[in-house]
Amino acid sequence: MSTSPGRADVARSVAGRRRALWLGGLGFAALLLASAGVRAACDGPQVRPAQAAIASAHPLATEAGLKILDAGGNAFDAAVAVTAALAVVEPYGSGFGGGGFWLLHRAHDCHETMLDGRERAPLAAHRDLFLDDAGQFVPESALVGPLSAGIPGTPAGLVQLAEGYGRLPLAQTLAPAVGLARDGFDIGDGYRRVAAWRLSALRASPAGAAQFLVDDEVPPRGHRLRQPDLADTLERLASGGHAGFYAGETAERLVSGVRAAGGIWTLEDLAEYRAVEREPIVAQFRGWRLVSAAPPSSGGVLLVQILNMLSAIEPQPESDTQRVHALTETMRRAYRDRARYLGDPDHVEMPIERLTHPHYAAGLIRDFDPTRATPSTTPETDVPASEGRDTTHFSILDREGNRVAATLSINYPFGSGFVPPGTGVLLNDEMDDFSAQPGVANAYGLVGGEANAIAPGKRMLSSMSPTFLESSETVAILGTPGGSRIITMVLQGVLGAVDGVPLEDWIARPRIHHQYLPDRLEFESGALSPAEQRDLTAMGHRLELLIRPIGDMQAILWDRANGQVKAASDPRGAGHAEVR
Ligand code: DON
Repeated sequence: MSTSPGRADVARSVAGRRRALWLGGLGFAALLLASAGVRAACDGPQVRPAQAAIASAHPLATEAGLKILDAGGNAFDAAVAVTAALAVVEPYGSGFGGGGFWLLHRAHDCHETMLDGRERAPLAAHRDLFLDDAGQFVPESALVGPLSAGIPGTPAGLVQLAEGYGRLPLAQTLAPAVGLARDGFDIGDGYRRVAAWRLSALRASPAGAAQFLVDDEVPPRGHRLRQPDLADTLERLASGGHAGFYAGETAERLVSGVRAAGGIWTLEDLAEYRAVEREPIVAQFRGWRLVSAAPPSSGGVLLVQILNMLSAIEPQPESDTQRVHALTETMRRAYRDRARYLGDPDHVEMPIERLTHPHYAAGLIRDFDPTRATPSTTPETDVPASEGRDTTHFSILDREGNRVAATLSINYPFGSGFVPPGTGVLLNDEMDDFSAQPGVANAYGLVGGEANAIAPGKRMLSSMSPTFLESSETVAILGTPGGSRIITMVLQGVLGAVDGVPLEDWIARPRIHHQYLPDRLEFESGALSPAEQRDLTAMGHRLELLIRPIGDMQAILWDRANGQVKAASDPRGAGHAEVR
């Protein structure tokens, strides 16, 4: 069980761990072979964990999940409860107006799948949706108001999770969230900080302002947030299942609210929406099995590419500076491919097998220079600043050995800011995750091309990377929010786990990030010593110290040899992990 220190404590605990970052090495001896599969090795006696665990970004969400486990629910039932509770108590991070990915492992038959509840573009959307008459991208239009909202996938995902994998009725698993929405909860400092940042987006929506502000201002400390419209919407979902959200009263209110404010949703958009099960990206390395998110997330593919490249570097780096340099160069090359190749698998052909093959990685890293940074050659456009702890992740392990890793989002904090009147549903602004124009950066500085261009009914490319990692002795369940940095944060968690770094340390230790464009090596305070900063700069890296900590990782570690289960919540956030 972990507690959550305040911001100053976080800075200290992060900085205090800096030497742990690279000394353990990066596991460069890894040989990684990629293959897509939906069944883990299920032979041999099935060991069960002695305890269950939940790690989530909010104590009330962890509590909601534990309540469902105590009532006889499995990890999938608990995942419904945690998803719904997070939507209520972290309304700025995820919600019923958003989407996400639930990575599932069912213990009795080792079935593994990624439940894709990612938003889709409305059917009336088109590739130039966010360009003005002069053909220029208007960033605000993809981030604020109903035009920026994709068709939500979280409600459909929850129905599918409950019906396909859970054993309790939705009325029971959604009940904690309904209670939190109706009775209210006291908002924290995180809420007030991001509400101040998205104040104008919330003010632009009368129902959004009424729900999340007080007299059009950031609510005072200790404010109790009640969301009765959302409670009613959840009850309609609980009683009606898919149709309880995507048809009837809720759908009609969503569509009429969106259209009255200039949006383009139709009832058909909602009626057509389905969550989809996809084969996760699976890879083996150094005796570990990695299972992570498949497209329309770029997470799994990039994780495999980076691990493959790290394995292919010869000779393997020895000093800390060389390791950071190698890691940066592999990140740079993987994100270049993200922009070139990846998108919605239902709309674009992607060479996934080739991209995740060790031979391809060896080719990508052929121009690696152990002494010099490789400049990113594509020209840079304006790079917006982005924050890093919105969106949300939770991890669950039950006593049967069922696992869930889920990352959920409405994109920017408080999403589009828009609430269709009478629904309590805050809509996402996930349309900004599309490439609005080739080579033009989105809110996370990511560029893209044709593969991620807007098209009717298409899912926008994501970085969300819920991940399982497994050896014969250990199972890890992990993930984090953080926009484009999600993948490199999960990577650093994976490397920590593989290197045997204690769970609390690999969650807390300072992180680095590179994403091809902008061409800069970002680092959290304490990640690089002054000497490393000097040496990396001399090698041609453009270094940037991040002002705020990034990520909010939630992870579980199950030691199969002794049955022990540990869970930890990132000290950067206000989450809560509990084993019981
Ligand atoms: O799907 C994605 O990649 C983004 N919409 C995630 C946004 C996010 O993590 C924001 N939090 N910092």
